[in-house]
Amino acid sequence: MNADPRTLGWLNRALAHELGAVQQYLAQSVLARLWGEAQWAEHFQREAAEELGHAERLMERLILLGVAPGVSALAPARLGRTVDQLLLANRQMERDAVHLYQEALLHATRVRDGDLADLMRSILEDEKTHLADIDDMMKERINHG
Ligand SMILES: [Fe+2]
Ligand SMILES: [Fe+2]
Repeated sequence: MNADPRTLGWLNRALAHELGAVQQYLAQSVLARLWGEAQWAEHFQREAAEELGHAERLMERLILLGVAPGVSALAPARLGRTVDQLLLANRQMERDAVHLYQEALLHATRVRDGDLADLMRSILEDEKTHLADIDDMMKERINHG
């Protein structure tokens, strides 16, 4: 089967996002550990693991289409000097993710690729949850900080 090049484009863009997200969360986990913020270090490590799961699902789709994953450049990890700055950077990243998966889902619907649409919809829901969780954490810190 010849895969739609636009479908491969969306899968690769999504994979680049996820691997970049893994890099950012893992780097922030290391940073938080160096700050002595063990709970935040664990939190960011769990986020990294979740984004890695997304990368795995996208890779499975690519491999089923006969294409080897080929992300060659990741966005640099955005760090900061405080936990609040890290959360702000992650909020931006998760907003970008929601936007990306909305567009990818639109493409999948347009070309009537049900499997692709299911995958993109499922990851989109996760990214919306990530964004909402960060908003809650930020509100919590404003109210109790
Ligand atoms: Fe993700
Ligand atoms: Fe995410």
